[in-house]
Amino acid sequence: PNKETSPLYVLHDKAMQFYHHMLVNTEVGQAALTYLHDRGLTDELIEEFQIGFAPPQREFLERIFEKEAASREDLLNSGLFIERDDGRLLDRFYQRIMFPIRNSSGRTIAFSGRWFELSDEKSDQAKYLNSPETPIFNKRMVLFNLDKAKSSIRKDGTVYLFEGFMDVIAAFKTGLESGVASMGTSLTNQQIQQLERVATNLVFCYDGDDAGQQATARGLELLREHSRLNLSVVRLGNKLDPDEFIQANGADAFRQLVEHEQQTPFSFTADFLAKQYNLQNEKERVTYLELVLKELATVDSLIEQDQYVSQLAERFQLQRTTLTQQVQLYQREHK
Ligand code: UTP
Ligand code: MN
Ligand code: MN
Ligand code: MN
Ligand code: MN
Repeated sequence: PNKETSPLYVLHDKAMQFYHHMLVNTEVGQAALTYLHDRGLTDELIEEFQIGFAPPQREFLERIFEKEAASREDLLNSGLFIERDDGRLLDRFYQRIMFPIRNSSGRTIAFSGRWFELSDEKSDQAKYLNSPETPIFNKRMVLFNLDKAKSSIRKDGTVYLFEGFMDVIAAFKTGLESGVASMGTSLTNQQIQQLERVATNLVFCYDGDDAGQQATARGLELLREHSRLNLSVVRLGNKLDPDEFIQANGADAFRQLVEHEQQTPFSFTADFLAKQYNLQNEKERVTYLELVLKELATVDSLIEQDQYVSQLAERFQLQRTTLTQQVQLYQREHK
């Protein structure tokens, strides 16, 4: 249905080219380019993802498009501008490192811009700013990098879900090309449907900080309810995100972790719960054990159940039969 004939695609292509040109070929983009190099982004990656820089002056794109025969309506609809009270258009994105957002067929339909500090003064700008909803961009439909990742995902049926664009790009650098990210929100049903068309397994690679682990717990819950994907979790520990992990430990360590240290959703949840209770305290320990066993009751694999019952029995000095009975009780309640 969507033949991609909207003039807004053309505006986005042009904007992408100009932002990219500013970053890689001009003095204005030099500091941002150095910053990206310092963060480990090579020129090849900057090219591959067509990363750019929106200059601090807010009439950069506006001047460029003035010379093109773009209609005012298209400019306003593109989301790339803000209309001032006096009717003049200002660039929405300025002083930001620009990440083009592409739809599943590879057309650029939006941007996410990362604020770039030019002096030591701290500003109160949001770190990332996304394009608003437009006729060609519906945030709920889009997954960053799905167009590029698709063929790699199909090879083994596995998609890796990251929190941030920088994480997807850093993973790509290590050879993991099946990474996608949502636009800073939890997954929508439309995104899940798109993933199910190309993948049977989904691996969470969210940030190792508390927010990332919370988001993983919520994501597991959501996907368990709304998808048939086999789920697993890579935990980075040390509060790092994948990009920081790769910077600190290198590509090989990251690939090693991703390939050999995946947890089952249950195992993740058990660890996640354990951090929220003081297991030295008798009352909290009982609450924790009840929650874990309730969770264990939802696990289909009898082998995984048995393994974990053994672990818990040993760790907390309890009878295996007690734990097993409790699990069965919860299973009956559940039905
Ligand atoms: P993070 O804060 O983890 O950013 O947010 P990051 O990906 O590690 O970025 P760097 O390394 O500091 O450059 C994860 C994601 O949440 C969304 C973005 O999609 C980001 O990639 N986000 C974050 C926003 O939309 N707005 C924000 O202000 C911050
Ligand atoms: Mn180029
Ligand atoms: Mn984060
Ligand atoms: Mn992060
Ligand atoms: Mn990061």
